[in-house]
Amino acid sequence: MFSSIFGILVLSSVVSSYGSLGRECLDASEGLLIEVGCWGYFFCQNGQVARHECQNGTYLDKESLTCINTSITNTTRCGYPVDCSVLIDGYYPDVETGCSSFYVCLNHAYMGRQYCPGGLVFDPDLKICNWPSQVLPPCGIGE
Ligand SMILES: *[C@@H]1O[C@H](CO)[C@@H](O)[C@H](O)[C@H]1NC(C)=O
Ligand SMILES: *[C@@H]1O[C@H](CO)[C@@H](O)[C@H](O)[C@H]1NC(C)=O
Ligand SMILES: *[C@@H]1O[C@H](CO)[C@@H](O)[C@H](O)[C@H]1NC(C)=O
Repeated sequence: MFSSIFGILVLSSVVSSYGSLGRECLDASEGLLIEVGCWGYFFCQNGQVARHECQNGTYLDKESLTCINTSITNTTRCGYPVDCSVLIDGYYPDVETGCSSFYVCLNHAYMGRQYCPGGLVFDPDLKICNWPSQVLPPCGIGE
């Protein structure tokens, strides 16, 4: 269920590589980021996809690409589940962190979070990661 809901998102997403990994790094520059999430990130190393995973209850900060203890540094919503019991199924932006991440509610259960790629923000109207200029406040700067 979780993968199919993301599959739908990927099809309509501006930029995303969630899913099949393997060939992305063949002609890519060293260190290129393939996917960034609360759990860590995939990047290119020696022409292959490598994984950097946050350990022991830490979560990735998207800006610094370091694993942080959110009890001490609170620059991400990762690690804070949302009460989905009163929310309808769907994708919701993390407004507190500038909508650089979003969370998923399904059957009134919290299904986790995902970061938008690069400088994109979550567009609550279109339900995709989009350029800030194309998205209305508070997530974007569009008009
Ligand atoms: C995570 O915790 C384990 C066991 O406490 C420890 O051996 C390991 O070094 C820790 N890893 C990191 C990255 O802190
Ligand atoms: C995070 O920091 C708090 C406060 O110092 C500490 O109690 C907790 O064990 C830390 N958690 C991790 C996962 O390092
Ligand atoms: C981080 O945010 C959570 C959720 O809003 C809050 O409960 C927690 O106290 C915050 N921690 C810090 C260190 O500001």
